[in-house]
Amino acid sequence: MARKFVVGGNWKMNGNKKQIDEILGFLKTGPLNADTEVIVGVPAVYLDYVKCNAPPNVEVAAQNCYKAEKGAFTGEISPMMLKDIGVCWVILGHSERRQIFGESDELIAEKVAFALENGLKVIACIGETLNEREAGKTEEVVFRQTQAIADKIKDWTNVVIAYEPVWAIGTGKTATPEQAQDVHKALRCYISEKISPNVAESVRIQYGGSVTAANCKDLGAKPDIDGFLVGGASLKPEFVQIVNARQ
Ligand code: G3H
Repeated sequence: MARKFVVGGNWKMNGNKKQIDEILGFLKTGPLNADTEVIVGVPAVYLDYVKCNAPPNVEVAAQNCYKAEKGAFTGEISPMMLKDIGVCWVILGHSERRQIFGESDELIAEKVAFALENGLKVIACIGETLNEREAGKTEEVVFRQTQAIADKIKDWTNVVIAYEPVWAIGTGKTATPEQAQDVHKALRCYISEKISPNVAESVRIQYGGSVTAANCKDLGAKPDIDGFLVGGASLKPEFVQIVNARQ
């Protein structure tokens, strides 16, 4: 079965109500390709507002959640809280969580497992740093990050993997379509061998890292690229063109 193209907009720690209204405005105007799943990753404080005001063809994701239902975890939010306000998706393991907030492969895997067990769908981010790429360790790193998750979950139905080379995030240095395709293909082979051929065939792998209206069509034409996780450009009207990259 063909994998449905999926484009996420990760707003990161950006936006206020005025700017969010503008973003919701261009998402409503679209038009957004009905064959593409569209998800926006929203700062926690605005999740309820966006959930209530987004058009029905746009799903809403949190940018993080914790691995417990409730309790003394100041500053955290739980999958149950997200579900309580109708949010069905969460982005986990973003490189900014890994690098700035020190999240380990293991913690991320535990969060992915807990979110899935509690009914959320997960965009799980992986990707190598520039040093790792230059040391020839790209595959080793993305396989390790994926395996950490595989060690904790059995069902990949509600997982989207986002391959985001750290050196391409927010830098304007997009991976070439060939570089991205090579990693996506290698990852799919790894998943086929270590997890299952069925999961390898069905799991969607997004590319993220300086995706723009100008480069999205070439990236989206690659056979193992099933969509994008977009940062900066998701705050701008060009996000509509990125959603429509594959017509
Ligand atoms: O989650 C999104 C990525 O970090 C990509 O961000 O499109 O601004 O490079 P960017």
